[in-house]
Amino acid sequence: MALSSSNVSHSKKLNSLRRMYLQAAFVTAGNPKAIVFFTAVFPQFIDHDSAYLSQVCILMSICAFVAFIDKLGDSEPKKLTAIDIGCGTGAFSIHASKYLGKIYAVDVSEEMLEVAKSKANTKGIGNIEFCNSGFLDFQPEVTADVVYSKWAFHHLPDYWKQAALLNINKMLKSGGIFYLADFVFEFDHDFKKNTDALLEKLSKDFTKDFIEETKVHIREEYSTFDWILQGLIERAGFNIEHSNTEDSLASEYFCRKINQF
Ligand SMILES: C[S@@+](CC[C@H](N)C(=O)[O-])C[C@H]1O[C@@H](n2cnc3c(N)ncnc32)[C@H](O)[C@@H]1O
Repeated sequence: MALSSSNVSHSKKLNSLRRMYLQAAFVTAGNPKAIVFFTAVFPQFIDHDSAYLSQVCILMSICAFVAFIDKLGDSEPKKLTAIDIGCGTGAFSIHASKYLGKIYAVDVSEEMLEVAKSKANTKGIGNIEFCNSGFLDFQPEVTADVVYSKWAFHHLPDYWKQAALLNINKMLKSGGIFYLADFVFEFDHDFKKNTDALLEKLSKDFTKDFIEETKVHIREEYSTFDWILQGLIERAGFNIEHSNTEDSLASEYFCRKINQF
């Protein structure tokens, strides 16, 4: 499912970000380490049409998650190794390569990787290793600090999601960070009403094409419920330190590896 931040209306973004800001603004002042890290880790907040909105978005993300970055202790972003799994055309990897030490950009699609590689070559980026592999098989030579995955996990049914999460656990150092963003359903006993309400709600903020993609997604792909995903993540040895499940459909989980299997 192809999503981009441009699908989201500016007002919706700003409203939810304003809420986050009110909750956490006071803790961010004077934390340049957080700014560098979050610019790298949350490139989805970069809005190419509006530098102002990008700045607001990045600031808000920093506000909301600064407590999380502080848990990295003395780590410097340039020393971190990250794995971008289901990297697609490399949006995260390419942006993050400026800030992080080494990135493994992993995808099962050779076509996607070719596009990502050519983007990286054009920019002269040398610290991304492209790997044609997937959630179930990939392992780096040395365990990583961060595993990042956005809009890709719904390609796996729940049984294989659990297997993938156990494999992600093995990719990470003890205490490593796992960031997952994906499409997650809300539960309601009346499925038809719930689905119609979701599409109706999305149609206020998203384009017609996006609504059509969402219908295909609901029909054919493997998004699951928040409570199932949380259970799968926790059973794979992670503590969910922060989750953002307020948005209909898109949820984020910031997790830390607490158990090794
Ligand atoms: C919608 S794209 C998301 C790309 C990127 N993460 C982003 O945010 O733009 C989903 C990607 O997941 C990849 N994918 C599907 N199944 C996968 C698997 N089992 N392991 C790794 N990647 C997979 C697809 O090839 C595709 O590139």
